[in-house]
Amino acid sequence: MMPNEELTLLPFDLKWVKGNFDADAFGDFDLHFNKFYVDTKLSKMLYVNGKVIGYVMVKPLSMGRIIKDILYWVKHKKYSDFSLFVSPDSIRSYSKKQGIFINSIYIMPQYRHQSYSDKLTEYCRQLGDYTWGISRKIIFEKYWGPKQHQIRTVEYNDGEEVNVIFADQR
Ligand SMILES: CC(C)(COP(=O)(O)OP(=O)(O)OC[C@H]1O[C@@H](n2cnc3c(N)ncnc32)[C@H](O)[C@@H]1OP(=O)(O)O)[C@@H](O)C(=O)NCCC(=O)NCCS
Repeated sequence: MMPNEELTLLPFDLKWVKGNFDADAFGDFDLHFNKFYVDTKLSKMLYVNGKVIGYVMVKPLSMGRIIKDILYWVKHKKYSDFSLFVSPDSIRSYSKKQGIFINSIYIMPQYRHQSYSDKLTEYCRQLGDYTWGISRKIIFEKYWGPKQHQIRTVEYNDGEEVNVIFADQR
């Protein structure tokens, strides 16, 4: 981030997100933009000096709910290599708290590596008791793990890649 830069969060702009959608990072747009997983009122665009450079799609949602779904698919052999990195009690303890699911976070390529995404993750953090997300293992290890004090809760292979479910430690 440069000095004198003004970072602002403004209402979600679906048209922009669709037009700039990074299918390599996120896969199918319709799968991501699903009412069950996105709250368009809470989701935000990030502006720097009046220019949009990224966004976050977010929704209040329990992490335990999704872990249950994943266990179902593990049982039915659609997902494999399932590992739990925390105790079941620790997962259960999250169910008493308000979880904020970070569906997707995006910064335009020319603005990356300058910590602009911190503004989006900080915003998400103050929406509930904890934030959580699902990410490809490489992104977890390079981005989420070191930067956000996130812990790995579950890892599974969806048949294409290994995914990590992570949550913050509060
Ligand atoms: C992930 C993303 C939002 C990070 O935004 P950012 O503002 O550049 O983040 P930061 O500056 O705080 O951190 C960047 C660090 O994350 C890591 N990182 C980010 N994206 C990465 C990627 N695609 N591959 C590997 N490492 C990545 C790097 O280690 C980098 O550290 P560095 O600056 O020392 O090189 C941005 O890279 C992006 O939009 N990527 C494409 C979409 C995506 O993958 N989103 C996350 C899906 S869970």
